[in-house]
Amino acid sequence: MADRVAIVTGAARGIGAAVAQRLAADGMAVALFDLDEQGVLDGADKIVAGGGRALGLKVDVADEDQVNAAVAQVAEQLGAPTVLVNNAGVLRDNLLFKMSSSDWDTVMNVHLRGAFLMSKAVQAYQTKEGFGRIVNLSSTSALGNRGQANYSAAKAGLQGFTKTLAIELGKFGVTVNAIAPGFIATEMTKATAERMKISFDDFIKGAAQAIPVARVGQPEDIAHTASFLVSEGAGFVSGQVVYVAGGPKD
Ligand SMILES: NC(=O)c1ccc[n+]([C@@H]2O[C@H](COP(=O)([O-])OP(=O)(O)OC[C@H]3O[C@@H](n4cnc5c(N)ncnc54)[C@H](O)[C@@H]3O)[C@@H](O)[C@H]2O)c1
Repeated sequence: MADRVAIVTGAARGIGAAVAQRLAADGMAVALFDLDEQGVLDGADKIVAGGGRALGLKVDVADEDQVNAAVAQVAEQLGAPTVLVNNAGVLRDNLLFKMSSSDWDTVMNVHLRGAFLMSKAVQAYQTKEGFGRIVNLSSTSALGNRGQANYSAAKAGLQGFTKTLAIELGKFGVTVNAIAPGFIATEMTKATAERMKISFDDFIKGAAQAIPVARVGQPEDIAHTASFLVSEGAGFVSGQVVYVAGGPKD
């Protein structure tokens, strides 16, 4: 995958940060997009310090002008982006009767509008190059999860989006897949523990008891799967949702 240029959204921390480092280790130039500018600059510095090529940009994936400008900047500074990992995400959990319409809209905008805008901008380069890989971060919550009507709808929506793009873009050498993680130890799950007023350690222990491999996931578990899905050799895998949850989830 040397010479390939990848964009990872939500790359300032957690799963996105691990995916960015892993794709760089695989030999790709990596552009890190996030609202958190310092986080992506630090991540890009780490890649450059290791001898790689990287760029950290402050981008709101739900903002069309920002997305288009940032993707064009990547093409100019690193080369045509042909690998895209749509990872940026937020939680606004609440039971339906307490969920505000703005919490609904925020979650839809980051996950669905964000993945749409990013994929639309990047496919122009992928179809021209005759090669592309898109990986969308879904979730086991797509199957339903109490308190997550907005998030589960967005994550299920991303699965339909994935399958449709796989059908539309396949003939251009572009594969599109989704990863649906189970419990991964990141700031996102830490925030959930805080909201539930239990310690992160206890939250992790409780979650691990229900997982067949008897542990929670780490960002590197998802990075490994993303590395496979974007690899040259995975060109016949498309339109799939890979549950990475330490056991069967669907
Ligand atoms: N952690 C889990 O257990 C888990 C499970 C299933 C799916 N996921 C999904 O994996 C992805 C990464 O999750 P994580 O646990 O690393 O979360 P995280 O909260 O640690 O990181 C998410 C990143 O996305 C960024 N982001 C949010 N809104 C953005 C926007 N509008 N534009 C650009 N960047 C934005 C945040 O600043 C943050 O750096 C998310 O899509 C999440 O829904 C996580």
